[in-house]
Amino acid sequence: NWELTDFIQTEIKRIQKVVGNKKVILGLSGGVDSSVAAVLINKAIGNQLTCIFVDTGLLRKDEGDKVMEIYGEHFNMNIKRVDAQERFFFKLKDIEDPERKRKIIGNEFVYVFDEEARKIENVDFLAQGTIYPDVIESQSVKGPSAVIKSHHNVGGLPKEMNLQLLEPLRELFKDEVRKIGVELGIPEKLVYRHPFPGPGLGIRVLGAVDEEKVSILQEADSIFIEELYKNNLYDKVSQAFVVLLPVKSVGVMGDERTYEYTAVIRSANTIDFMTATWSKFSYEFLELVSNRIINEVKGINRVAYDISSKPPATIEWE
Ligand code: XMP
Repeated sequence: NWELTDFIQTEIKRIQKVVGNKKVILGLSGGVDSSVAAVLINKAIGNQLTCIFVDTGLLRKDEGDKVMEIYGEHFNMNIKRVDAQERFFFKLKDIEDPERKRKIIGNEFVYVFDEEARKIENVDFLAQGTIYPDVIESQSVKGPSAVIKSHHNVGGLPKEMNLQLLEPLRELFKDEVRKIGVELGIPEKLVYRHPFPGPGLGIRVLGAVDEEKVSILQEADSIFIEELYKNNLYDKVSQAFVVLLPVKSVGVMGDERTYEYTAVIRSANTIDFMTATWSKFSYEFLELVSNRIINEVKGINRVAYDISSKPPATIEWE
């Protein structure tokens, strides 16, 4: 596609000109936007770009290793991985309120990023994967949805560092960013992933978050996603995930009585994420996922399927 190739070539030249021999930092989240921005900027200026990847402990199963493998090894990018799991779990201890959890996660992310950014000397630019809808959203008067949930996205700006912004995707829509990602050689499976919220699994473990619950959720979620791919359903739904409830119920396994958590499978079909319907999976598929989760994940003995549409329910549970 010449238009995409053209965009990439023009943008690479522009980045080289703007940046010169200066240094750039970027917060890599593993999501599409920051990843495409990172690969593009890396093509332009190589190791003058340092990516900071904060592992919050609230990411999907093995996400940290996968990010390092694809971007660090395959694309040979300069990535500083920060293992900040303990800090996040410490701050989140016993916090149940969803909005407080969001704020804590958002703030902690900025602290960690800021701390790491300061360790890198002579940085002049902060790169971000801002896309056109983000630009519009930040300019418009926020509607009621902004009040319902404070949406946190990656990318705090370390203030006194006096950095200039570098936002190569700011005129593009999501589908264009995806196409550019593919053109740049990022695997389609990554580029076409469902959206993942900034606060991550922190808002999918309902109520108080701890390492054990997150790890139970990661296992269950990865089984669900794996089965969606295997059964050719992943691309037919807009967003799918598992939620862990702070509810234990009685079950039986062999001749033992169990008392374990309940997981909820959630899958939404939507165009704009403002309204959504639940995915009409077959009973066979739901049974398969439920059986696998209950048999394979220690800590879960009951699975429910969420059949609520948005509105009035939201896609996430918190
Ligand atoms: P809801 O739950 O409001 O979600 O129907 C709509 C879309 O927004 C995502 N979402 C978030 N994304 N930070 C984010 O970056 C957040 O705090 C957040 N809360 C919800 C949600 O995953 C869905 O795609």
